[in-house]
Amino acid sequence: MRIGILTGGGDCPGLNAVIRAVVRKAISQKDEVIGIRNGWRGLLEKKTMPLDLESVSGILPKGGTIIGTSRTNPYKTEGGVDLVKKNYAQLKLDALVAIGGEDTLGVATKLSQEGLKIVGAPKTIDNDLSATDFTFGFDTAVNIVTECIDRLHTTAESHNRVMVVEVMGRHAGWIAAYSGIAGGADYILVPEIPIDVEEVCSSIKKRHQRGKDFSIVVVAEGAAFKKGDLALQDKELDEFGHVRLGGIGNKLGELIEKKTGFETRVTVLGHIQRGGTPTAFDRVLGTRFGVRVYELIKEAKFGKMVSLRGNKIVDVELKEATGELKTLDMKLYDLAKIFFG
Ligand code: F6P
Repeated sequence: MRIGILTGGGDCPGLNAVIRAVVRKAISQKDEVIGIRNGWRGLLEKKTMPLDLESVSGILPKGGTIIGTSRTNPYKTEGGVDLVKKNYAQLKLDALVAIGGEDTLGVATKLSQEGLKIVGAPKTIDNDLSATDFTFGFDTAVNIVTECIDRLHTTAESHNRVMVVEVMGRHAGWIAAYSGIAGGADYILVPEIPIDVEEVCSSIKKRHQRGKDFSIVVVAEGAAFKKGDLALQDKELDEFGHVRLGGIGNKLGELIEKKTGFETRVTVLGHIQRGGTPTAFDRVLGTRFGVRVYELIKEAKFGKMVSLRGNKIVDVELKEATGELKTLDMKLYDLAKIFFG
């Protein structure tokens, strides 16, 4: 068989583990794998690269994706879908592996309904896909943020400051909640619950009254004030209709300083959360996904996506991947709240 593989959307640690697993397993069965460059754009431009044992050697600890990615949506390009179908045929693909989040897998779902043989694997640091318990990349992001919170603790304590840490996660509070709990944050703000500034400030003041004159506040980029809009970096939408979130940390930091009188600093972690080497968990999950993806192709189970349920790798319909946004489990947030203030 000749299998194409592409990675779409924001890069995330663990993508290379999936690519390596597919290639290693396929080559051991005498199948061929080619990389489609830069997500769906590569299928529009027919840009590929060979993937052999040599090209996947040593990539397991590497962040990002060796085949590149983009946020290109063939459904937003004039004649894009026909071009993708034509190039799929010209490249003589027997199957395509699409690794991505809701956008990439949304395109994969539609193309698969149009007859292309596609199997998906879920990725995103945001962990917001309902069809899987965890996506790879999330664990790495959480570990990076946790380490940053640990570092901010020592400087916050030395200067008696409030430190606001803005983290990614789009419209779900998974990264904020997990890293906030792991890092011992004194308040965690998530998109699922509107920000009550008075409540945050009173909690910080109470901490001061009991002798703790520094605080760490973790805020998710998608969190918004009770009466307010999302903080945006610009108003432009990408090809999948998404806004660029960011800026809530600074707004919140200003308000906290004004209302409490405590010196406040803001750290926006940004793409640091997505870069660098994946954790062992993400490497293992990516590897398990990659091997199962290949098996699904061999079993001719197209239109499916691999998924983690409990500790089992299962397969689900591709369209389930994009059905519903998986927002934060509120039981986890209730647990986090025990440690506020
Ligand atoms: O979906 C992953 C993610 O990192 C989000 O957490 C974040 O909002 C977005 O991508 C950033 O996108 P970009 O890399 O295009 O700035």
